[in-house]
Amino acid sequence: MEFTAKSGNPEKQRTACIVVGVFEPRRLSSAAERLDQVSDGFISNLIRRGDLEGRIGQTLLLHNVPNTLCDRILLVGCGRERELHDSQYRQIIANAATTLNDIGAMEAVCYLTELHVKSRDNHWNVRQAVETVEDSLYTFDQLKSKKDTTRRPLRKIVLSVSSRRELQDSEAAVSEGFAIAQGVKLAKDLGNLPGNICTPSYLADRGLELAQAFDSITTEILDQADMEKLSMGALLSVSKGSRQPPKLICMTHNGNRDNKPIVLVGKGLTFDAGGISLKPAAAMDEMKYDMCGGASVFGVMRAVAELKLPLNIIGIVPSSENLPDGAANKPGDVVTSMSGQTIEILNTDAEGRLILCDALTYSEKYDPDVVIDIATLTGACVIALGKHASGLLSNHSPLAHDLLNAGKSSGDRAWEMPLWEEYGEQLKSPFADMANIGGREAGTITAAAFLSNYTKKFNWAHLDIAGTAWRSGEKKGSTGRPVPMLTQYLLDRCKEK
Ligand code: BES
Ligand code: MN
Ligand code: ZN
Repeated sequence: MEFTAKSGNPEKQRTACIVVGVFEPRRLSSAAERLDQVSDGFISNLIRRGDLEGRIGQTLLLHNVPNTLCDRILLVGCGRERELHDSQYRQIIANAATTLNDIGAMEAVCYLTELHVKSRDNHWNVRQAVETVEDSLYTFDQLKSKKDTTRRPLRKIVLSVSSRRELQDSEAAVSEGFAIAQGVKLAKDLGNLPGNICTPSYLADRGLELAQAFDSITTEILDQADMEKLSMGALLSVSKGSRQPPKLICMTHNGNRDNKPIVLVGKGLTFDAGGISLKPAAAMDEMKYDMCGGASVFGVMRAVAELKLPLNIIGIVPSSENLPDGAANKPGDVVTSMSGQTIEILNTDAEGRLILCDALTYSEKYDPDVVIDIATLTGACVIALGKHASGLLSNHSPLAHDLLNAGKSSGDRAWEMPLWEEYGEQLKSPFADMANIGGREAGTITAAAFLSNYTKKFNWAHLDIAGTAWRSGEKKGSTGRPVPMLTQYLLDRCKEK
């Protein structure tokens, strides 16, 4: 999709379709009002007859509206004006995008970006519009032999801004939105690919491909022998049970600054059957999504490279499968992590923390400013927070605060949980330095408490995205979260000093 920003009167636009809002009950937005005036009440007449109440979800397409230069006008229900908050705005934009795509208007000028969203400014409106359009028109059909293609798909959207003064800032918002959307799309595509295609080696190749595509990125792949030399006994114990060789994918975005790097570590478990502690069969296919943390790191790397952010950013993705096998981890096995700490594996299905702990130790070598890991780590997080918020746990409250704020402004939110040392006691083992599980209580927190044993040397935050990384049911698919939150955090970091 091509996006541009422009300011101008709706009646003067020569385009296939103009998109304007109507509030409930039957109240015209200012752009709709203008079109109504030039057309001698054409729109208000229709509305008075009851064709459109203005509820969110409603749309009405008009042809040949007098005294306008456009082919069509699309009226979009916007709900009550006073209740127009973030999620309503996104819903309105998504409705407009899917309708435009269906009606065969290949280009449109959209005035919905001029709506007033509570506590938001023009920059936010424009950026969210770009992200939401891309998100709502996303399809994953690479693996279908017959694709149901839209005959005349939407190709170009002009986003209207109310004054010329805002134009420059709006163009920046379009670029940010588009870069984030591309990152989200990459994360979604990787997430949606099945485990037989998206293996650790496949991810490694995609990491090398990013380095080919962007000058600022260099990628290094550590293979099994490299990891053996580094004594990554926890990570390697998980991959032992698989025929796919593990990979540690290390991507660097060089922002040409001397500052310490920001390290992102993403769980890249390409299929989690649970290992010997085998998972039940129901919905096990969804464990192809267990690499979504890693996928989000790919997405963020792509976005920051596209935006040429002046920050040094390292993306590390430990990647493996977790399968039952004669060589697999067994309950009771004790392994030694790269840090030297020993781990009693009481449940082989708590494998994410095993691959992450060695990747976290490895990140020390970059002398990081902060380290953020992203993982579909615990089913308990889905129970605690559902699909709306990612879990956030951190050993450094300013970092937690910045991430929570980035989540709020990007519409990709997290909620903090406590990481008190008392929870660590649940991980005590009679045979090793720690166990890899802490019992039924507070599963998300004990998982983070486990990781905190490997992050003592730096400021660290952990995002549990088990509930937010993909949707189940009818709209099953990867969401690309938390690419928007993390990219927002990095954009905010650029504004420091
Ligand atoms: N990848 C899963 C977590 C998961 C499960 C995410 C379901 C989303 C939906 C992780 O590797 C896992 O299996 N965790 C176990 C930990 C337990 C054994 C302590 C879990 O959550 O059941
Ligand atoms: Mn597991
Ligand atoms: Zn897992």
